[in-house]
Amino acid sequence: MKVNGISYRTIWLTEQNSPAVQIIDQRFLPHKFEVETISSYCQMVQAIKEMHLRGAGLIGVAGAFGVYLAYRDALAGKLSEALIPQAINELLETRPTAVNLKWAIDSVTSKLKGDFTLEKKTQVALDAARQIADDDARRCRAIGEYGLSIIETMSQKKNGDVVNILTHCNAGWLAFTDYGSALSPIYLAHQKGIKVHVWVDETRPRNQGAMLTAWELLNEGVPHTLIADNTGGHLMQSGLVDMVITGADRIAMNGDTANKIGTYLKALAASDNGVPFYVAAPTSTIDWNLDVGLGKIPIEERTGDEVRYVSGLYQGHLADVLISPAETPALNLGFDVTPARLITGFITEKGVARDLEIFRMKQ
Ligand code: MRU
Repeated sequence: MKVNGISYRTIWLTEQNSPAVQIIDQRFLPHKFEVETISSYCQMVQAIKEMHLRGAGLIGVAGAFGVYLAYRDALAGKLSEALIPQAINELLETRPTAVNLKWAIDSVTSKLKGDFTLEKKTQVALDAARQIADDDARRCRAIGEYGLSIIETMSQKKNGDVVNILTHCNAGWLAFTDYGSALSPIYLAHQKGIKVHVWVDETRPRNQGAMLTAWELLNEGVPHTLIADNTGGHLMQSGLVDMVITGADRIAMNGDTANKIGTYLKALAASDNGVPFYVAAPTSTIDWNLDVGLGKIPIEERTGDEVRYVSGLYQGHLADVLISPAETPALNLGFDVTPARLITGFITEKGVARDLEIFRMKQ
């Protein structure tokens, strides 16, 4: 996608022989566009944990590049080769909910079994990570195309009137290598001249909707309105939402879906008001080892300070502002699980369906 007219992905390699990794540092968006260079696996661990980058797809790609960096560190003598498995474990443990991380790291490490030199392994890890990044962008583009037909049908039903779509958190291109999942169909619809308008949930506590989704939509010229998290139910009752599209961080085989905290409440409101509720995600977000999601998907708990403080621009500077008594205990769960029964369909790179088995069979 473009930032100030220049095409970017969210993660890429420097132009050198044994390249380092660069990312858009999302901590400063929408106020500052900053690129961070990541030169070691430790730095990648920190970048994922502290959310310099985030979003299920991008976390996976970053983990894959993290494995490459661990081998690169070993090749440069900065890490003992014997400690590479421990480094990979550290990467795996950075964020617990999004399954794409494990999927991507396993994809890279499965190519590294065998007796070849450290140099060769570094190259194999680099090629595998690069491939995962390219595939991620390709999958998101395909999600966009399948989702576009749903928006197109809704637009026809409304005789070309504006299609109002509500989304939660950020499942745009910043959450992947490119295009995004929930926002990808919206971008394609907008480019095709279909009238769309997006209700953007602010998404407390970290405000990915207000800070990232709003920024993305503004960059692409897509009409949108920022709303407080509690507004969606009322909008649905008032007939102002035609569909909801969210992303996903992990989908169990029965369709139960973990996504950013608050998604479940939107799904309940959508169901109560007969509003279609779609989950858009690449099939790498499906956990084929998990039968049901409710009670089984690990839910990340983060520091209470993310609830007690709000970050933003204050008098031209980025600042954290305390909004509660400093000593008030706060619970900060990052995700919730929406039961499959509340989900109208899954939009993946392989098509749209309710039954996930179809995607397992389809190549
Ligand atoms: O905690 P984050 O920002 O990494 O959460 C991930 C998300 O952006 C959302 O849950 C999103 O809707 C999933 S789509 C990648």
